Amino acid sequence: MKQLEYLKILSLSKRTLEEYLNWGETEIVKMPTDEIISTEESVKMPSSKKQSGSVLSSKEKIKILKKTIDSCKKCSLGSNRLNAVIGVGSPIADLMFVGEGPGFDEDHKGEPFVGKAGQLLTRIIEVMGYIRENVYITNVVKCHPMIDTTNPEKRSNDRPPSLLEMETCKYYLDKQIEIIKPKIIVTLGASSAKSLLHSEEPISKIRGIIKEYKGIKLMPTYHPAALLRNPNLKKFVWDDMKIVMHYLDTEKI
Ligand code: SF4
Ligand code: URA
Repeated sequence: MKQLEYLKILSLSKRTLEEYLNWGETEIVKMPTDEIISTEESVKMPSSKKQSGSVLSSKEKIKILKKTIDSCKKCSLGSNRLNAVIGVGSPIADLMFVGEGPGFDEDHKGEPFVGKAGQLLTRIIEVMGYIRENVYITNVVKCHPMIDTTNPEKRSNDRPPSLLEMETCKYYLDKQIEIIKPKIIVTLGASSAKSLLHSEEPISKIRGIIKEYKGIKLMPTYHPAALLRNPNLKKFVWDDMKIVMHYLDTEKI
């Protein structure tokens, strides 16, 4: 292994241990260690689940889907967005995160979860022993739901997507799930849980219990923005992510 790779692993492990303590963990849980060793090279490599040839085709399919979404105007959100925000990460990821919808930062950058809540999600992913590049991150709607639709340059102009917007855009999320075939989906917050599970129950009631969506395991948990408002919720998210990690660990062949 190259020296740079060793250094990457060491620095990630150190940060991960620090984060365990930050997140109220008192004992070290078994982590999916081979996922930590994820350089750009190994991210591109097919896992045992997806055999040779399938990597390129998933990548290609996502690329084609991106083109369609980039020009989509199926709902009114398409008229005011700066960028459609399709998703980021590995097209063969075992773990997929689904948030609500792009906000100001995401609309400007064209990438999901890059603002404050996104930075927290990135930390959660790293504490789990992954990096953004080897999971897949997306949203229920791909365009920024704004309160004042005339002003994409205004901050704090975000709102949750409507049921109609979520239903209209769901086709793309379904396609992403179909192409990527994750082993488990983590829904972040009420909107994505509502969209995929059609559940009206509050997140506090449904989180922490593995459900299913189209035959794929699904874990509902709190949105990272909720953790920013109430850090006491971190403990619950960490508990939920430990279940997800355990599931992925036992699923490995
Ligand atoms: Fe199309 Fe989805 Fe954007 Fe609506 S939110 S315009 S359905 S990509
Ligand atoms: N919140 C979300 O739900 N998605 C993003 O991409 C950013 C913030």
